[in-house]
Amino acid sequence: MKQLLSEWTTWGVGGPADRFLTPHHLYEAREFIRCCCGEGMDFFVLGGGSNVLVSDRGFRGAVLHTPGLDRMEVACVSGGVEIVAECGLSLRKVFSIAHENGWSGLEFAVAIPGTVGGTLNGNAGSRMGSIGECVEWIEALDVKGVSHRIGRREMDWDYRRCGVDTDTFVFLERCCLKLACSTREEVRRRVSEAAKLRSEQPYAERSAGCVFKNPPGQSAGYLLDQAGCKGLCVGDACVSGRHANFIVNRGNARADDIWNLARLCRERVLRHAGIELEYEVRLIGEFKES
Ligand code: EPU
Repeated sequence: MKQLLSEWTTWGVGGPADRFLTPHHLYEAREFIRCCCGEGMDFFVLGGGSNVLVSDRGFRGAVLHTPGLDRMEVACVSGGVEIVAECGLSLRKVFSIAHENGWSGLEFAVAIPGTVGGTLNGNAGSRMGSIGECVEWIEALDVKGVSHRIGRREMDWDYRRCGVDTDTFVFLERCCLKLACSTREEVRRRVSEAAKLRSEQPYAERSAGCVFKNPPGQSAGYLLDQAGCKGLCVGDACVSGRHANFIVNRGNARADDIWNLARLCRERVLRHAGIELEYEVRLIGEFKES
């Protein structure tokens, strides 16, 4: 039976994939990707499913689902620690270990869902920082299935953009995050500061975080709010009344509902402010206009 991707996305939407694998070892993941590349089969890597919109018609290709790749090692280094994490490890887990031990650098990540790999792919973060700032190196697989270690100096992180070229490197295998030794009290203080920034977000509901990126110097949430998007719904997909850059699934929303609602919001901002918002969530598969 084909695997429905709705089971693995935070919006709870998405049809079947033609091929699906949840590997528990990196060598299985590499082999899977080499096979897909060899057969010319499209594939995508699905982490925590918190930043993707997968079509109701699913994905004509293969999906590598990473949460089984969750090994982690910690080593003490001068002034801090280095955490070597596999891509499927949940960011929440790394965050809570850092929080408990008084290691500083990931405070911005409070309440950010998803896996380490997904977080790196979109350089997830908040106004207090983003994951790229902590990365020492990444090990990634290229389209020929060869693994490369890419060091800090060779990376170029930007707002919601991965520091390595995600067309050349198709699969992020592991990374090394460097955190500084601080005190539990200081880390707790910074975490509460970061949590305050998220206090208006509807994180108790089914969403995929912010749908659109912030345009330079502006806030997409503010622009969407000013354009009157709060409360708009298509089916069970609704723009949150708390934060206009969040679309929540109130029950049985389909991916097409979410996509049509996002289009409507984009059009409103274009008409109202003359700005074309860029998606932060990744769109996978085909979508139908209604
Ligand atoms: N605002 C409104 N109406 C809204 C939403 C926001 O007027 O519906 C106003 C706020 O009052 C504030 C300004 O817009 O004056 C900025 O809003 P907010 O503080 O919520 O920050 P943001 O720019 O919307 C960014 C990140 C969030 C991150 C927060 C907090 C993006 C697209 N969003 O949101 O990241 O949590 O800062 O640091 O970069 C995500 O990327 O998925 C995400 C949730």
